[in-house]
Amino acid sequence: MKLAIIGAGKVGTTLGRGLAAAGHAIVYGVRSPDDAAPALRHAGASVAAVAAAAAGADAVILATPWSATEAALRAAGDLTGVPVLDVTNPLGPGLALAIGHTDSGAEQVQRWAPGAHVVKVFNTTGLENMADPVYGAARVAMWVCGDDDAACAVAARLAADLGFDVVRLDGLRWARVTEPVARLWMELAIVRGLGRGVGFGLRRGAVAP
Ligand SMILES: NC(=O)c1ccc[n+]([C@@H]2O[C@H](COP(=O)([O-])OP(=O)(O)OC[C@H]3O[C@@H](n4cnc5c(N)ncnc54)[C@H](OP(=O)(O)O)[C@@H]3O)[C@@H](O)[C@H]2O)c1
Repeated sequence: MKLAIIGAGKVGTTLGRGLAAAGHAIVYGVRSPDDAAPALRHAGASVAAVAAAAAGADAVILATPWSATEAALRAAGDLTGVPVLDVTNPLGPGLALAIGHTDSGAEQVQRWAPGAHVVKVFNTTGLENMADPVYGAARVAMWVCGDDDAACAVAARLAADLGFDVVRLDGLRWARVTEPVARLWMELAIVRGLGRGVGFGLRRGAVAP
């Protein structure tokens, strides 16, 4: 697939390298293509202005700081019908979630890009686990939340390509639940010092009667 990554920072480039290694064509959408870091020009990747990157992409991966997300979406132009995989977390001061309970960052992204098929994914773990979510026989779980079935399938495929244990929740409103999971990951990994290798898995299985 041709994937535009808007927000070519730590997360964007980690996903870009992993997805390029899985055979996808990456184009990083940046504000100043002429000044782009050499690291963005890895195998399978190119660099363009934000709107040019988004144009013609099979999916857009959004990995901007929350405070820059509305502007980045505006710069991307018309995303009608395009799967937009929202990796952001709506963080305010002190790692507090600025949106929650009856709303989510993902639903705000959907309001900013009303024609897009927004899917929340990749937000609940650190970039080290995005680079390698496999721990022996266990894999980090990745929740997929979106209202469009085909866009959810795209997100699920890309998460599987990276090695995640994909759990489709569907329904963008489920991001109201997974965004706090991201905050829990930050609490454990960063604030309480368990380390950035912490990851959440899903145990499946029937309970004996
Ligand atoms: N770090 C993690 O482990 C992690 C895990 C899950 C989710 N997230 C979420 O992922 C997002 C990105 O995190 P990060 O750690 O990758 O941050 P980061 O390293 O600071 O990268 C952010 C990138 O966004 C770009 N950007 C800023 N404003 C932009 C705009 N208007 N248009 C296009 N690009 C713009 C920046 O480019 P410039 O150089 O032009 O400023 C930078 O390359 C955040 O929402 C974060 O909450 C992070």
